[in-house]
Amino acid sequence: MSAAGKSATITLDGKTAELPLLSGTLGPDVADIRKIVGQLGVFTFDPGYGETASCESKITFIDGDEGVLLHRGYPIAGLAEGATFPEIAYLLLYGELPTRRQNDEFVKTLTTHTLLHEQIRNFFNGFRRDAHPMAIICGTVGALSAFYHDGIDISNAASRDLSAVRLIAKIPTIAAWAYKYTQGEPFVYPRNDLTYAENFLSMMFARPSEPYVVSPILARAMDRILILHADHEQNASTSTVRLAGSTGANPFACIAAGIAALWGPAHGGANEAVLTMLADIGHKDNIPAFIEKVKDKTSGVRLMGFGHRVYKNFDPRAKIMQATCHEVLGELGITDDPLLELAVELERIAIEDEYFVQRKLYPNVDFYSGIILKAMGIPTSMFTVLFAVARTAGWIAQWKEMIEEPGQRIGRPRQLYTGAPVREFVPLDQREGAKMKVSEDMS
Ligand code: ACO
Repeated sequence: MSAAGKSATITLDGKTAELPLLSGTLGPDVADIRKIVGQLGVFTFDPGYGETASCESKITFIDGDEGVLLHRGYPIAGLAEGATFPEIAYLLLYGELPTRRQNDEFVKTLTTHTLLHEQIRNFFNGFRRDAHPMAIICGTVGALSAFYHDGIDISNAASRDLSAVRLIAKIPTIAAWAYKYTQGEPFVYPRNDLTYAENFLSMMFARPSEPYVVSPILARAMDRILILHADHEQNASTSTVRLAGSTGANPFACIAAGIAALWGPAHGGANEAVLTMLADIGHKDNIPAFIEKVKDKTSGVRLMGFGHRVYKNFDPRAKIMQATCHEVLGELGITDDPLLELAVELERIAIEDEYFVQRKLYPNVDFYSGIILKAMGIPTSMFTVLFAVARTAGWIAQWKEMIEEPGQRIGRPRQLYTGAPVREFVPLDQREGAKMKVSEDMS
């Protein structure tokens, strides 16, 4: 892994640190700073970790400048076109695309783990009906660790695999039930004759009172959305899962931590925020004024669904999502969706605007996924939940890779302290402010 003996050198106060350069298979070399404190007595400062490789990984590669996304070496476009979501989950977990036999076995294993322990139903009743479904899935996924004790021995490879399968298999059931609960509708149990995507749609939309036939168009679109969100290298939620996992916490608790991190509007909450933004803009005529507001830094308004920490070129997932969006709307016969028209116009204007061009702000995957999901009848509050369903595959693959790494250590960043220097403790009755307050209160 060392870059042919190359190193970077830093000199400070006459002391020199040699930072060996490490080469990956793809991407820039990284300078190994692990000995810098011993050699120079200084830490490195990188808030937001934008310049820091936090781990070694073989799962996903992103080249943000070129708009490249690979899972285990395979470009995302080919995977989204030719594979199913369970194949991608298998690829992320085990490193290779499954053979037909391996795929059949994996799908069967997933299918037979979709049910929840019946007592988990009771958890849903504890939530308010108007709870955000992300709150429900965050709590319920964490609670799985109380039910599947046999799976929480993280030192056992078979237990790790079982937990991975349970999480990927059960998250759609939890997600769909969270939705049903907020609607006051009966829970729909998983069906073993359906695919992963079909089953999710059935649990979301079927009712015991009438037959439900899953549309193949919607099932394919759902499968593609799941594939496009399955993993994305060391983003905020994945890094959260790894950090929680580095302490030896059980996988259910770690995935619950990932769900919490995903919830924020700067991350998984963005597709929900895109629809809210489009609704606020309301009409094409209002776009120029909205763009001006976005450019005015004092407004605090951002163009949701635009920009990415890593992609400084078109997000490759956004390209596929854009095509899927038109496909789905076309096949559903939605030709005059005002939100879509608004989104297309907003995209056209923003892509040409100097502000966005200069800052390399392109539409990201969430710009289109919200529109497709809306067309499919998925309520806005479920958008981020769907993202969590898909990302569970990536999170658990990343967690597994980390636990299986020899010499894995607890994650523990340092800081640049800018608080008060050392000062002497002052007892309560001698503090100036405290004395005044007491005398005022007594008067
Ligand atoms: N609208 C307007 N201006 C923006 C936007 C945006 N969406 N995104 C970035 N900028 C501007 C910033 O104000 C900054 O301008 P400046 O250089 O004049 O100060 C510049 O572009 C760089 O922005 P940063 O905040 O440094 O970019 P960062 O990489 O930290 O942020 C992020 C990335 C959080 C995704 C940001 O682009 C954003 O908030 N986008 C909107 C939310 C969104 O769509 N998130 C989904 C991300 S994809 C995902 O999680 C699947």
